[in-house]
Amino acid sequence: MERTLSIVKPEAVEGGHIGDILSRFEGAGLKVVAAKLTRLDKQRAESFYAVHRERPFFNSLTDYMSKGAIFVSVLEGDGAIARNREIMGATDPAKAAPGTIRKDWGTNVEANAVHGSDAPETAAEEIAFFFAADEIQSPTV
Ligand code: CDP
Ligand code: MG
Repeated sequence: MERTLSIVKPEAVEGGHIGDILSRFEGAGLKVVAAKLTRLDKQRAESFYAVHRERPFFNSLTDYMSKGAIFVSVLEGDGAIARNREIMGATDPAKAAPGTIRKDWGTNVEANAVHGSDAPETAAEEIAFFFAADEIQSPTV
């Protein structure tokens, strides 16, 4: 079992797509094991995206990510990291495959509806950034 961090970004929360996006996760066999609606201030957005500090889009991205509520969740399943990246689609919604979240609800390369962790190490860091261990529940079946 693997875990990954997902974020529904501000424009997709504002657009009312939390439920649509959660349906995609659950439809792909990913279990939601933690979730909350929250908000990043500019400083926390800069910290979350610190790996992109030198990129030209860093200031705009962190402004955007701190402009409204976000919905963060932890998804669990076999190969959860890659499976989530697959159903998210390419970073640029214009290049994302049909049927992906970013194709359906992304606006542009910055406001692209969702974030998903890209590797086991970053997933662990990103999960800990938003959730305490006792806020994550494994399914009890
Ligand atoms: O999110 P993903 O892992 O697909 O892409 P990334 O390369 O890790 O970039 C992180 C985020 O920066 C993207 O999801 C976009 O919101 C933003 N970005 C941007 O604004 N302009 C770009 N040319 C590339 C990324
Ligand atoms: Mg990334």
